[in-house]
Amino acid sequence: MSEVVVRTATAADLPRMSAIYNQAIERTTATFDVEPRPDDNYAARVASTRPGDHVVVAQVGGEVAAYAFSNTYRPRPAYDGTREVSVYVDEDHRGRGLGRLLYEELVARLDADGVHTIVSVIAQPNPASEALHRALGFEHVGTLAEVGFKFGRWVDTALWQRMHPDVRGGGAP
Ligand SMILES: CC(C)(COP(=O)(O)OP(=O)(O)OC[C@H]1O[C@@H](n2cnc3c(N)ncnc32)[C@H](O)[C@@H]1OP(=O)(O)O)[C@@H](O)C(=O)NCCC(=O)NCCS
Repeated sequence: MSEVVVRTATAADLPRMSAIYNQAIERTTATFDVEPRPDDNYAARVASTRPGDHVVVAQVGGEVAAYAFSNTYRPRPAYDGTREVSVYVDEDHRGRGLGRLLYEELVARLDADGVHTIVSVIAQPNPASEALHRALGFEHVGTLAEVGFKFGRWVDTALWQRMHPDVRGGGAP
C-alpha cells in the first residue's frame, strides 16, 4: 500500500470527507442519513477546539481515504465527559487497517483529554465495525431493536462503550 499518514483534519479535507460519507449514505446502513450531504458537512466538527472533540483523517498516497471523529454524545452539560465516535473508510480502502489506525489515534487522544467514556452506535449488521470496536477495547452494552428504517427494512442499533482505563467510576470530566 502507498504511504499512509494519519493526521488532524483541516478545512481542505472537507470535500473528500463528505464524498466518503456520501458513499456510506447511499450504499450502507452505517448512517441513518438518507440524502447526500454537502461538502461542508463536517465543517463545524473540524473547526471545534473543545477538548475531546477530534477529527482525524488517514491519507493514502496523498489522498484522504478515511476519517474518524469524536464529538458530543448528547447536548446536555452532564454528558460533557462522554464523546460519541464514528469512522468511515472509502469503500476502495476497507479491510486494510485504516479504520484501526484512525481509531487507535482517536482513542489515544480521548484518553489524553481525560474523556470518561466513549460511546459508539453501530447499526446492524456490521461485523467489520464490531470487530474494530472490540479490538480497541469497546464492549457491547445493548441493542435497540428496529429504531431505523432504511432500504425498506427496520434496522437495529448496537450500543458499544469504552471507559477511560484510569478513571472508571471516578474522576470529574
Ligand atoms: C467499519 C469500517 C470503519 C472498518 O474499517 P476498515 O479499515 O475496513 O477495518 P480494518 O481493516 O481497520 O479492520 C479492523 C478490524 O475489523 C476486522 N474486519 C475488517 N473488515 C471486516 C469484515 N468485513 N468482517 C469482519 N471483520 C472485519 C479486521 O480483521 C480488524 O480486526 P483485527 O484488528 O482484530 O484483526 C469500514 O469497513 C467502513 O468504513 N465501513 C462503512 C462505514 C461504517 O460501517 N462505519 C462504521 C459506523 S459504526
